[in-house]
Amino acid sequence: MSSSFKFKCFQYFFIIIFILNVFAATTILSSSTDDSSFNNFLDIAKSPEVFDWMINIRRKIHENPELAYQEFETSELIRSELDKMGISYKHPVAITGVIGFIGTGFSPFVALRADMDALPMQEMVEWEHKSKVAGKMHACGHDAHVTMLLGAAKILKQHEKEIQGTVVLVFQPAEEGGGGAKKILDSGALENVTAIFGLHIAPDLPIGEVDSKSGPILAGSGRFKAKISGKGGHAALPQHSIDPILAASNVIVSLQQLVSREADPLDSQVVTIAKFHGGSAFNVIPDYVTIGGTFRAFSKQSFNQLRQRIEQVIIGQAGVHRCNATVDVKPGYPPTVNNGDLHEHFVKVAVKMLGINKVDSFMTPIMAAEDFSFYQEVIPGYLFFLGVKNAEHEQFVPSLHSPYLKINEDGLPYGAALHASLAANYLLKHQQDIAPGVERKYHDEL
Ligand SMILES: *[C@@H]1O[C@H](CO)[C@@H](O)[C@H](O)[C@H]1NC(C)=O
Ligand SMILES: *[C@@H]1O[C@H](CO)[C@@H](O)[C@H](O)[C@H]1NC(C)=O
Ligand SMILES: [Zn+2]
Ligand SMILES: [Zn+2]
Repeated sequence: MSSSFKFKCFQYFFIIIFILNVFAATTILSSSTDDSSFNNFLDIAKSPEVFDWMINIRRKIHENPELAYQEFETSELIRSELDKMGISYKHPVAITGVIGFIGTGFSPFVALRADMDALPMQEMVEWEHKSKVAGKMHACGHDAHVTMLLGAAKILKQHEKEIQGTVVLVFQPAEEGGGGAKKILDSGALENVTAIFGLHIAPDLPIGEVDSKSGPILAGSGRFKAKISGKGGHAALPQHSIDPILAASNVIVSLQQLVSREADPLDSQVVTIAKFHGGSAFNVIPDYVTIGGTFRAFSKQSFNQLRQRIEQVIIGQAGVHRCNATVDVKPGYPPTVNNGDLHEHFVKVAVKMLGINKVDSFMTPIMAAEDFSFYQEVIPGYLFFLGVKNAEHEQFVPSLHSPYLKINEDGLPYGAALHASLAANYLLKHQQDIAPGVERKYHDEL
């Protein structure tokens, strides 16, 4: 009996060990891959309490658009909302920027980014919350971006004790040409961040749908201007002049051949001359002409090749016509290149929230540029597009930067929930990456 009792004890011991092991295994599994506690983010974002609050914020910002590095009131509104939620932040960062923190305050760190600036253009949509500032409009939807990041903040704050790391909220100034992202990076505020997510509204994509891709998604951009100098004189006596109008015209025609003849047809590039200024009278050949434009490419190599050839062609072709040219080329934003691992993470989170047929993970890249690319040069980053299509825009969909852009606010909860879910699940997944022994505030309560 004693021996059999011993054996039984042993058996029970084994069973208990086995059960404990199963438990431990499930715990590890649930903390690394299962995100069950974060499943209701979209419901929270759609709840009248959060939704109405977001609509209100978005309309306030829309009525009061502020240009790059002048987003003072937008920044103040953001800080007052963060204060109300009890979220700590750094300010000012990059003049008007605000960096908020939710979670343990310890690693891992994941960032979510929203840009805050408007465009110098007149809104043409007649509605109750039309821009109240003449000549300024949120025509790129950055009002919605700020709103959705605040929405994400609200959701994440509610779940702060389950967040295993720190979510860094990046409210960034000056996306439209000002390179605010670069200034945020230079401030050092994102030092320990290991991934950054950003979203952009898409006016042609239905509500509840997203698209993106791995790898290059937006082009790198640069701008150039040139002064082509000849010798002015009487338009009836061309033999006494050196005509810069004709020289500039040939320069423009030659520039078109860089993409059509020198670039790989499968490597998309653009050269557009968007400015041409010369002459002021119908019977005078002017002294000089100025031109300007933009160029785009998806790789650094193609970008630098274009940059070099634009300069050579302008100077060379002007020389053919006995003119001199000076060229000023400025790189703008690098190509936006999505990280492959973060793409997988995005697809998983988005499919789970929206359903597989609402997630296009092979979108066609666009030649537009984004300063989100500056983050991606130093931190693995991921940008995706979010549907805000208006039902009334079935035929003609106003594009981003159109004075007729009118977004469908029903898209706001999706952006807020996706932001929150991408960050919370990223931190869960990357628990194993953090150094052992790092103290975590809420560890015991999990
Ligand atoms: C990043 O981590 C280092 C080392 O833990 C720390 O000294 C530094 O203050 C952190 N920087 C930020 C911006 O949190
Ligand atoms: C171009 O520059 C050269 C050298 O400075 C100068 O001799 C010539 O007059 C210039 N031509 C024009 C059309 O300005
Ligand atoms: Zn824009
Ligand atoms: Zn934009």
